[in-house]
Amino acid sequence: MGTDAATDTPHTDRLAAERDRWVSSSVNGRPFFVERAEGARLWDVDGREFLDFVGGIGTANHGHSNPDVIAAVRTQLDNYLHQCFSLHSYEPYVDVCRLLTECHPGDFAKKAFLANSGAEAVENAVKIARYFTGRDGIICLDNAFHGRTLLTMTLTAKVRPYKLGMGPFAPEIYRAPGPYPFRGITSKNAIDGLHRVFKNQVDPSNVAAIIYEPVQGEGGFLPMPNDYPMRLQEIAAEHGILIIADEVQSGMGRTGTPAAVEHYGVTPELITWAKSMGGGLPISGVTGRADIMDSVHTGGIGGTYGGNPLSCAAAKVAIRQVLDPNFQDAAKALGARMRSRLDELGDRFDAIGEVRGLGPMLGIEIVDGHGQPDAATTAAIVGHAFDRGLILMGAGLDSNVIRVLVPLVATEADIAEGMDVLEQSLLSATKPAP
Ligand SMILES: Cc1ncc(COP(=O)(O)O)c(C=O)c1O
Repeated sequence: MGTDAATDTPHTDRLAAERDRWVSSSVNGRPFFVERAEGARLWDVDGREFLDFVGGIGTANHGHSNPDVIAAVRTQLDNYLHQCFSLHSYEPYVDVCRLLTECHPGDFAKKAFLANSGAEAVENAVKIARYFTGRDGIICLDNAFHGRTLLTMTLTAKVRPYKLGMGPFAPEIYRAPGPYPFRGITSKNAIDGLHRVFKNQVDPSNVAAIIYEPVQGEGGFLPMPNDYPMRLQEIAAEHGILIIADEVQSGMGRTGTPAAVEHYGVTPELITWAKSMGGGLPISGVTGRADIMDSVHTGGIGGTYGGNPLSCAAAKVAIRQVLDPNFQDAAKALGARMRSRLDELGDRFDAIGEVRGLGPMLGIEIVDGHGQPDAATTAAIVGHAFDRGLILMGAGLDSNVIRVLVPLVATEADIAEGMDVLEQSLLSATKPAP
């Protein structure tokens, strides 16, 4: 156990006190200070080793400290740091746009635009959709998470902690039911709900876009039912409405494919990307049909740091890896292994109401004896896992879903160890089925 030599205090305690003193308490996070990270493992400032099943909330699909990403960033460091693409062009930005469009399914010409964060990508996708269609309305779903800026917070569904006291919200945002079969909301219910939105909230002729996550992340790791994205696409096409697929969390190999929408055979006009796109560096993007992406007047979208060269150098490597069929196969195999172990746990523990997900983007919904959301037990499981060296995280409107976003380079041994710890943590927090 590392200690501060002068005071004999664990480094974590000293840094936690510093954090309390200097960092706004409004920022979430446990007093856990990372010193080193590699693959699916983290080491803290006191030398404790952790298995990371959350991967920076989906930013570490390629593994922490991916050596190819680091090498590319080192090379870029020797060339130049920042330029501002709206001022001087540079090749890595163009390369990333090309590679990103390769991740966007659909047999049509595509173009891309780069920004810094997921929220910024979503903001820009909405701006582009409004400009192209000349319409104001945006429809989002229950359980959605699209970010924390004013517009994206408005699109986000969970009031506490994301929206509480932060209004007034952006106008012209309408919310439709999101499919949640485990809670009785089927694909059909959600589509019926969308038609009700058209009747009692906004006429479809005033809707620019419908935005949805193919697998809702923060909302509870809810994969869209098989038929839902295609139904949505057909309805949108009927009314001249664009579809924005928010792949910030579900994209970049997280479900085994570059874009999660590929599982559904749909071809959204616009897709937003971020998180693992940068292999650990901050970068995001919007891809879309070329005519839509070109529709905004020059200068209508942009930003100082969007597509920073260091982030582009990292993103080039990260996206190439995701496009590699071997990477995708390994991710799918990892997902299948985890799924079968989670299903086994689901059979054994009454507290597991449902195991769900797509490929290696997996969640388990924790319920009480009456099948109701059980946030306290969820927090207990996450806490027990942390004490045993496994990083887990909750999700869901009721904070009762444990999400698994393990780096896709995790070894079989990593997964087996993590699953054992999860099982022990479930045992500590609950009682198994008789
Ligand atoms: C689906 C989705 N969209 C947008 C965002 C916002 O991304 P960022 O935090 O980079 O702004 C997130 C973040 O978790 C997300 O999961």
